[in-house]
Amino acid sequence: MSEMNAQTGDRKTSPLGEAIVGRINALATISQDPGNLTRIFLTSEHRAAAELIMGWMREAGMNAHLDAIGNVCGRYEGERPRLPCLMLGSHYDTVRDAGKWDGPLGLITAISCVGDLNRRGRRLPFAIEVAGFADEEGVRFASTLLGSRAIAGTFKQSVLATRDSTGKSMREALIEFGLDPDHIGAAARIRGELLAYIELHIEQGPVLEAENLPIGVVTAIAGATRLAARLTGMAGHAGTVPMALRRDALTGAAECISKIEELCRADDAGLVGTVGYIDAAPGATNVIPGEAHFTMDIRAPTDDHRKRAVGEIVRQIEAIAKRRTLELQVEVTHENRTVPCAPWLKEQVAAAVAAEGYPVFELPSGAGHDGMAMVDIADVAMLFVRCRGGISHHPDEHVDMADADAGARVLLRLIENFRPQEAGG
Ligand code: GLV
Ligand code: MN
Ligand code: MN
Repeated sequence: MSEMNAQTGDRKTSPLGEAIVGRINALATISQDPGNLTRIFLTSEHRAAAELIMGWMREAGMNAHLDAIGNVCGRYEGERPRLPCLMLGSHYDTVRDAGKWDGPLGLITAISCVGDLNRRGRRLPFAIEVAGFADEEGVRFASTLLGSRAIAGTFKQSVLATRDSTGKSMREALIEFGLDPDHIGAAARIRGELLAYIELHIEQGPVLEAENLPIGVVTAIAGATRLAARLTGMAGHAGTVPMALRRDALTGAAECISKIEELCRADDAGLVGTVGYIDAAPGATNVIPGEAHFTMDIRAPTDDHRKRAVGEIVRQIEAIAKRRTLELQVEVTHENRTVPCAPWLKEQVAAAVAAEGYPVFELPSGAGHDGMAMVDIADVAMLFVRCRGGISHHPDEHVDMADADAGARVLLRLIENFRPQEAGG
């Protein structure tokens, strides 16, 4: 084990951690806005990031290509060609005004680990594939996990018709990017090709920091439901229509949003609800809004709990709309079940953590991850790296170099010691 600080359990920095942080910073320069980090699916920034990542993959001894949905896929052969693979990965799209670690940390760490094996001329009895998923966040279109769903073979053709905020459909955006929407099926992999899927990711919460630990073993990825609501009232003159006679869609939305917060706050078993997007039409200072749209993101530790909460939230906002004589349309735009990490894989993650000298600490993931889609073709495990202040989806998101290094060492050991599940096990 390398030198550690007895007080904090932190390592001194090492070349792996330094290289990872250097690449994180390089990738973070690819953004649609100069002042902040925003990298969205099927944009010129997506393409520039893909080129950079594929270059790193090739440097690490992998074959690399862009697949049918814009994922970057790298493959490092095992002791012989065409062996089944251990797949590692994470996403390289971001939310708007993002932090630079969410997604890229796992992808870059995986590439660095392969680079380390390659430098040592080490081949394993299985191939390693690294997937950089093109869209996990779902910022541009209503659906999320588009990259991993394409690889898992669960991409729904119907989402090609969804439109971004400029009115462009996913089908049109794919064509503009140079991809063929009718060939997304070509990205799909089948179960026998993958021995497992393992993802390293920034924790995005405060738990590891509170435990004073750089690494955690994930038990399960919590499910999520995303909904879109449209309230329709009556637009009108801001100066002439008395308050009692208005059918203001935006004040109706405001009441709905407060109700969602109230319901989630009243729950003491981990329910969280977020309205992260709202707009109103026609959108003028002196016009009563006739239409309002907002999104909802609802999560809970169990699927039952989340489903009950979604039902209650929809009932309550229907009642608000009715009382205000507004029409309400609610659509579920995305739903993901809770995905447990496979016990046999979790054991191997825990063994690698312990072998690197860290206490084995388990925690669930409240955030969504590509493993939620990958579970359809492979057993899934995750490790978390400590996040400063629990801050994520925010430019202040931060991982210390020593923690990035710790994550890389654990992942490298996990890869080198990886044993596929015994048949029937
Ligand atoms: C992804 O970051 C999610 O949990 O929404
Ligand atoms: Mn995210
Ligand atoms: Mn992420």
